[in-house]
Amino acid sequence: MNKIVLFLVVLLCTMEIACTAVNENYDSLKFDSEDYSIDTLIMNNSDTIIYKAYKNIYYVTNVEDSNYQYLNIYVPENVKLRESILLRTYVGGYMATKAYDPSPNDATGRALKEGFVVCIPGSRGWNSVIESDGKKIYTGRAPAGILDLKAAVRYLRFNDMLIPGNSERIITDGTSAGGAMSSLLGSSGNSPIFKSFLKEMGAADVSDGVFASICYCPIVDLEHSDISYEWLYSVTNKTVRGLNKDQLKVSNELAAMFGDYLNSLNLVAPWGEKLNSRNYYEYLKGYIIESANRAMRQGVELPADIGLLVGNGKVLDVDMGKYLSYVAKSRPLKTPPAFDAIGVVDGNRPTPENLLFGDASGSFVNFTEYASMKRGNDLSSDIQAKVAMMNPMFHLLFPADRASHWYIRHGSRDRDTGFSVPINLATKLSNVGCSVNFSLAWNRGHEGDYDLDDLFAWIANLP
Ligand code: DHB
Repeated sequence: MNKIVLFLVVLLCTMEIACTAVNENYDSLKFDSEDYSIDTLIMNNSDTIIYKAYKNIYYVTNVEDSNYQYLNIYVPENVKLRESILLRTYVGGYMATKAYDPSPNDATGRALKEGFVVCIPGSRGWNSVIESDGKKIYTGRAPAGILDLKAAVRYLRFNDMLIPGNSERIITDGTSAGGAMSSLLGSSGNSPIFKSFLKEMGAADVSDGVFASICYCPIVDLEHSDISYEWLYSVTNKTVRGLNKDQLKVSNELAAMFGDYLNSLNLVAPWGEKLNSRNYYEYLKGYIIESANRAMRQGVELPADIGLLVGNGKVLDVDMGKYLSYVAKSRPLKTPPAFDAIGVVDGNRPTPENLLFGDASGSFVNFTEYASMKRGNDLSSDIQAKVAMMNPMFHLLFPADRASHWYIRHGSRDRDTGFSVPINLATKLSNVGCSVNFSLAWNRGHEGDYDLDDLFAWIANLP
């Protein structure tokens, strides 16, 4: 990590110097409380929610991509003044997203019903593109997406007195790559790494720290995700997964790197035990057992043939070979490398992550040491810096205005990233002093905004 830190310091210094004169007039960011339409949302139980919709508001003064750099704000008729604001991002696949309207099927509708202000920002992503002088410019390569969301947070704070919610109680929410974005908002408040970028964009010059973060199946720690994935799933290589010889070799090489990586994290279990490559497997199994037990207590019937050892009405242990085969049969696994795939094994296509770290020309690139080495390339400091900026695990190594409260869920049969990824995020957050409500959600796949009663009870109990 030291090497990366050094790169970043150098990069930051260059950026500060290169930072061109910026527009310091933020008048255009002032919220117009009269510019709204009245709209309604019909909930699934037929309840009608009436709200004011403030739409298509640019959150930076230097808009580069007007398709995405704007937000919508929704204020329900029964708004609780000076209460939490739900900032829900619909980022998926690290792609660009519009600012959608609230939905009765996710946390946005529920938040309105509970009287919270809802903010839905659009943001750039790897596929956002504009044309300039007949040339295509990809506007959303890393770290653009997180910069946009930070600018949206700043917009809310900049207009705190004009918007009925309390910008000191912003709760971020997203799923998958959106869960990653939510975790970045929560872990990197006011990080100096983003400062000059935000200035150049014309984001309001106020704090971008948030109060709480909700992360469903966050696809984070991208530079270690291939290692984590193979360490976990290689037990299924010769059974369900059916890898070819090249893939098997890659899988074995990556899996072998996990122990050192895990040890480097210096994680501590909630009961104070230091985690290392010897006790970590049991730690991870504990989350699966706990998840199954919670389901059992709720009366869910657990399948007999997925490796759970049940006795005295409780799940006592899990046979991981069987359990992971069940996960892999539920949805085919990614092939190795699961994330930094391009160029490593013949036939691999660029992944969203290969595209995320490419540049404005639309390129796709390797972003791990392993894949770069396989292709005989050096991993540039520029790409390393972008990878670090997109990783909450990196931000947690430094002081920041972090969200104090976290709600993290990952489905018990979600195979989009290895279970160790959300587990390590939750563990590290709690090790640095955050309050974390984390579990593997039984029988959930790659999805989000479920168990809304549980989520909103958690929100209601925040201090
Ligand atoms: C998402 C899913 C993935 O498997 C991935 O690698 C990145 C993002 C998503 O659903 O957002």
